[in-house]
Amino acid sequence: MAEDIWEDSEARKNVENVFNRETIEALFDLSEDGHFDVLHGIVKDGKESRLCIAEKFNRGEQSNFIAAKIYAVEASNYQNMQQYLFGDPRFEGIKHNRRSIIFNWCRKEFKNLKKAESLGLNVPSPIAFEKNVLLMEFLGEDFRPAPRLNELELENPETALDYLVDAMDRLWNEEKLVHGDLSAFNTLIWQSQVYLIDFSQAVLTHHPQAEELLERDVENVLNHFRKTYDIERGTDDVVETITG
Ligand SMILES: Nc1ncnc2c1ncn2[C@@H]1O[C@H](COP(=O)(O)OP(=O)(O)OP(=O)(O)O)[C@@H](O)[C@H]1O
Ligand SMILES: [Mg+2]
Repeated sequence: MAEDIWEDSEARKNVENVFNRETIEALFDLSEDGHFDVLHGIVKDGKESRLCIAEKFNRGEQSNFIAAKIYAVEASNYQNMQQYLFGDPRFEGIKHNRRSIIFNWCRKEFKNLKKAESLGLNVPSPIAFEKNVLLMEFLGEDFRPAPRLNELELENPETALDYLVDAMDRLWNEEKLVHGDLSAFNTLIWQSQVYLIDFSQAVLTHHPQAEELLERDVENVLNHFRKTYDIERGTDDVVETITG
């Protein structure tokens, strides 16, 4: 095979960005720990991660399907991640190299999901993590992830918007957390409920950019409901109610 065909191929990109030796070892460890039996493959290509489906057999009963989010180590913009990690007491003393930053990015998503879950919010339940691999509940069925908010038309958009505003409020006030990348793209609709996903960027409220990030989250969410459903709410009002 000509070398440039391999160089330019999708196959190479997937192997080198995702299934490198370290990732395979992390997956192996998670499987050895009993979290899953089979890894089925990639169902979503994110900017900095791939989402795979894994299956855990249940003797005599239906299997459980879980999501394995694999952060690309080589392809990630890890410089950009640093501003969301440093200054957070949960990540004090971590090393500044690429691997350490990506592994902590993954650990951060796990911890943030735990916080959101502890409030009883709709998020994929986090299961475990190892290096650059995060295991969590899979939202969807038949190997298809649940649709994103931007991909469908809701029958009760007001209810969904109220839920998202309340979720931002409770994260901010009860867990001192701001999602930081909330939008119709990081919101799934599953079994008629709104779910928040993609928490790796979330920071504590004492982070210097916390208020700015909250404002951006509120604006992203309100813009979607304004454009799609003609629902008018003011960003400043919502932010003020949350930060009170
Ligand atoms: N637990 C889950 N269950 C089902 N689908 C999921 C789950 N987590 C993520 N997804 C799907 O995978 C996509 C990418 O995941 P996520 O947003 O967490 O990663 P990302 O690397 O930040 O991606 P992007 O850069 O596209 O936002 C999501 O938009 C969603 O469609
Ligand atoms: Mg995302």
